[in-house]
Amino acid sequence: MQQSAYITTPIYYVNDKPHIGHAYTTTLCDVWARAMRFCGRDTFFLTGTDEHGSKVEKSAQAKGISPQQLADENSAEFRRVLALFGLSNDDFIRTTEPRHERQVQVLLRQLVATGDVYLGEFEGWYDEGQEEYHTETKAKELEYKSPISGRPLVRAREHNYYFRLSAFQKRLEDFFATNPEFVRPNARVNEVLSRLRDGLQDVPITRTNFTWGIPMPDAPGHVVYVWIDALFNYVTALDLAEPMSAAHSARSQYWPARYHVIGKEILWFHAVIWPALLMALKLPLPQCIYAHSFWIADGQKMSKSLGNFIDLPTIERYHAAYSLDAWRWYMVTQGPLEATDADFSAKHFHEMYTAELVNTFANCASRTSAMIGKYFDGKLPAEATGDALTNRVWSAIAADVTSRTITHYERFELRQAAQTALSLIREVDGFINETQPFKLAKDPANTAQLATILYRCAEAIRIASVLLWPVMPSKVEELWRCFGVVCDPREGKLSAVCAWGQSRAGTPIEKCALYMRVDAPLAPLAPLAPVAPAAPAAPA
Ligand code: MSP
Repeated sequence: MQQSAYITTPIYYVNDKPHIGHAYTTTLCDVWARAMRFCGRDTFFLTGTDEHGSKVEKSAQAKGISPQQLADENSAEFRRVLALFGLSNDDFIRTTEPRHERQVQVLLRQLVATGDVYLGEFEGWYDEGQEEYHTETKAKELEYKSPISGRPLVRAREHNYYFRLSAFQKRLEDFFATNPEFVRPNARVNEVLSRLRDGLQDVPITRTNFTWGIPMPDAPGHVVYVWIDALFNYVTALDLAEPMSAAHSARSQYWPARYHVIGKEILWFHAVIWPALLMALKLPLPQCIYAHSFWIADGQKMSKSLGNFIDLPTIERYHAAYSLDAWRWYMVTQGPLEATDADFSAKHFHEMYTAELVNTFANCASRTSAMIGKYFDGKLPAEATGDALTNRVWSAIAADVTSRTITHYERFELRQAAQTALSLIREVDGFINETQPFKLAKDPANTAQLATILYRCAEAIRIASVLLWPVMPSKVEELWRCFGVVCDPREGKLSAVCAWGQSRAGTPIEKCALYMRVDAPLAPLAPLAPVAPAAPAAPA
């Protein structure tokens, strides 16, 4: 039995609107989940929303609605976006759901019982206006005054529950030493290790200064810190803390996760605090925390104040102009999957679309289908065996591309997976250019050779398309309709489907136009025009 395949996105804060960053991480996970299901792995893909905390409480207050109402509205917006992007998640967890809240309390009770969570006292310099503590050094720097109101900082004391993170220092160090691929990409490992070497301190995991959170069990007035609440989503969605439930028996086999995919800014929580919590709960650790980098826009960090967020309306314009699958292709092949940020620009999007999708993928499918239409009356011709047209051994090429692509998918090397699959299309282009079937077609004596060439082109396109399906499912299914390919990814037979020689001679082939040329890059949406001062009256 193949290992099961559990993949998660971060759960997104409901006090923000969905934008390219959220869409990006979720699309990556979607591509991986589709590939693994196609490979026959029992796959579970989770995403959801993170709904507690003082920020949500404050945003709701500002809008004059309850935090639950705000969470309901914005969580629904995130779910609407999933549908818009054709994402294939198996569940969507919300941290305000009873199943999650109940289990977080069970897990915390367990941590109190083992002594890994304890009630501690914290004393520090408190800014009453900002509801914020400062360290001794910082307070001294501020001359013991609030940097905002100028009022004196007060010496305050708080009782909080703490997680005994310090006790896990050695175990975490050992774990990192023996699991070099726990954090990926590799360039991120050092930031975790160097901070780890500074030494771990216990972390407060409850708050008493607001109420919008999961109540800490047996501790009136304390709510669970939103980050601790949120991390637990990865196991509560599988009902791990409710062993008697039906969901538990259906889902518990997915733990531990193969990949927690996150952005680089939340690596510490996932690479250090989460494993320590799991160690304390005696649960197995996930296999890999994959922390990608950030999308930036036209060379600048995206921010609300600059108004340069690639937000949903912008993304929808790309879908309308280029198609959803072209958007997915760009996300996967040009995104910040490794250690450097990626710049989103309309011009670059347009260039990559034209080069890889129009001129390569679509063009190859279109010229092959057109030639079959013209020379063989739209029916796939038979491959004459033993006819050495070039020294390509197509069955070996296809097998090699297939195995490399599948390995890249499994290892979450999604850019390489997509490019390796596309390389088979480039191979077909090279083959057409070398053998020049349009010239051979001029002499009927070449019919057998022509038939062989076009069979091989069509068969290689079929295999490439199958391998590209996780990235662009709709366009590939369109191609399958034109090429008469019968393929159901749900059967889980990716590698068998990619074996050479399965296309049948005589299959009707229609002319296929997958990606249309787009004239020019999308113009940026006009920024909100500043209110123009009234024009002076023209002199008489
Ligand atoms: N709620 C926490 C996560 C808790 S997980 C237990 C959170 N939420 S968030 O809404 O701020 O989402 C952060 C995630 O959105 C990042 O980790 C990343 O996956 C994605 N992105 C947000 N901005 C991004 C970019 N500019 N570029 C790429 N992805 C980024 O943090």
